[in-house]
Amino acid sequence: MEKLLDLISEEMKKAFEEAGYDRELGRVTLSNRPDLCEFQCNGAMAGAKKYHKAPLMIAQEVAEKLTDSDVFGEVSAVAPGFLNLKITEAFIKSYLNEMAKAEKFGLTIPVNPKKIIIDYGGPNVAKPLHVGHLRSGVIGESIKRICRYAGHEVIGDIHLGDWGLQMGLIITELQKRQPDLIYFDDSYEGEYPAEAPFTISELEEIYPTASAKSKADEAYKADAMDATYKLQSGVRGYRALWQHIIDVSVADLKKNYENLNVTFDLWKGESDVHDIIPGMVEEMKKGGYAYESDGALVVDVKEETDTKEVPPCMILKSDGASLYNTTDLATIMDRMENYHPDKLIYLTDKRQELYFEQVFRCARKTGLVNKDTELLHIGFGTMNGKDGKPFKTRDGGVMRLENLIREINEEMIRKIRENAETKGYEVDEEAASETARIVGLAAIKYGDLSNQASKDYIFDMDRFTSFEGDTGPYILYTIVRIKSILNKYTEQGKELTNLVIGEAVNDSEKNLMLELAKYNAMMEAACEEVAPHKICAYIYDLANAFNHFYHETKILTEEDVKKKESWIALLTLTRDVLEVCIDLLGFSAPDRM
Ligand code: ARG
Repeated sequence: MEKLLDLISEEMKKAFEEAGYDRELGRVTLSNRPDLCEFQCNGAMAGAKKYHKAPLMIAQEVAEKLTDSDVFGEVSAVAPGFLNLKITEAFIKSYLNEMAKAEKFGLTIPVNPKKIIIDYGGPNVAKPLHVGHLRSGVIGESIKRICRYAGHEVIGDIHLGDWGLQMGLIITELQKRQPDLIYFDDSYEGEYPAEAPFTISELEEIYPTASAKSKADEAYKADAMDATYKLQSGVRGYRALWQHIIDVSVADLKKNYENLNVTFDLWKGESDVHDIIPGMVEEMKKGGYAYESDGALVVDVKEETDTKEVPPCMILKSDGASLYNTTDLATIMDRMENYHPDKLIYLTDKRQELYFEQVFRCARKTGLVNKDTELLHIGFGTMNGKDGKPFKTRDGGVMRLENLIREINEEMIRKIRENAETKGYEVDEEAASETARIVGLAAIKYGDLSNQASKDYIFDMDRFTSFEGDTGPYILYTIVRIKSILNKYTEQGKELTNLVIGEAVNDSEKNLMLELAKYNAMMEAACEEVAPHKICAYIYDLANAFNHFYHETKILTEEDVKKKESWIALLTLTRDVLEVCIDLLGFSAPDRM
């Protein structure tokens, strides 16, 4: 379906042409004086020079051509030469009825959909998920959903950190604690037990202990590096132990991500590309790209136009060990060979910006990707506490994701009880805790996604969980309000289908219609610019427009059946649009709250 602005611009362009001017001057934009008009056209101002004529005269001539327009109901040429516009009630209502019937509300689906791999989440095995991993999961999930909805083929990959020193640290600590474990017996040739010799909570305690010891004790660190080396070079017992670590950790990660409504198509990790690294390195050497520098193997990636220093991309350390870069490059190679993507998107903290610049340049230079393969790193800002410093627990520790979610849920339950009390109804405890879970997730996700990803933001529990203002709970509250009206309507034995939206009877209704009509343009931009915050801004405006209309209109008690049906149709469309949008943000609405 054509975008509203394009459609009405076409009408304006015709008028410019008929008045003897360049049609391209007829571009219509949203009004920056909503108190005066809905749309505007500044073409006469631009045309004044070209036609040596006062802009107001041009505007007046164009306005005259529009006196019988079906699109514009009000056209006023105002000094010094603007065209202030309002569209007709008939035009906007037909647009919305078409939108309501169209697939995806009339969003244009690309003729050549792309194949996109999104690399997000990126948790490190055996380390607890903390709020730092929240953003990657939440933003990545939303971008995945948006791109998929917009018609692209999208694969989400978690890209586990499962191959580095942290694995060696855990193995070392296990060996110190339980040296008799069969996994450390080199002469053992039998099958290893199916059951892991530790639980997830032990694992989560082991890693920080080992990490602290290795920082204080050189010998311990050397053991850990040795264990890492043994693991990577394939020592049987180490591999078996590593598999246990992965299994226990992944089961826990799945549970955590499920609670966040974040899912992955692939659960691959750094370890998956281990075997293809030697071949890749060989190719890089043969191609003359990789050379030795201070014992390490590197590829130069600086470019003439650089304004900052871009250091070489290190492929192998001087001891021959691979690095984070190496696994990322090999993963690119693997993805290109096995999935043939047109585009790769990575979501990490923006502190990894330079790192990804190096990796991308190296991948291009060494021919790991095609010339037209798009490589995009989306670097997000830090989630800060109210003190403006990275978010911590009350006693200053690293906040674990589970605890953060628990705190939000508790706050949500409190608000739900409070709300019920003021409204005078009983709270069913079980239902309340389920509702709190749903609304709490919306509070966290909306609080995050409503900011432009690259910006730091302040995690403000009070604000995020509020039922008023630019928050997730406010959006859900609005949806629940609409659902409840629609329920009451159907309880009167009436159908929601086949209703037609009629002409707006007042400004708040028309305003709601105008907001709805922005949908396809907004969604196209959100996808092209990979910007979930655009969806948030849109649904916030839409929810506000709906609530204004709601407060001014007695919907269910309206006696004029046509009017009432038209409003019900408008509400249905508003609910549907809001629900699709929140689904793309990765959360949903409860039935009541
Ligand atoms: N595991 C990494 C970390 O915690 C993030 C991985 C991001 N993805 C990637 N392909 N490098 O920092």
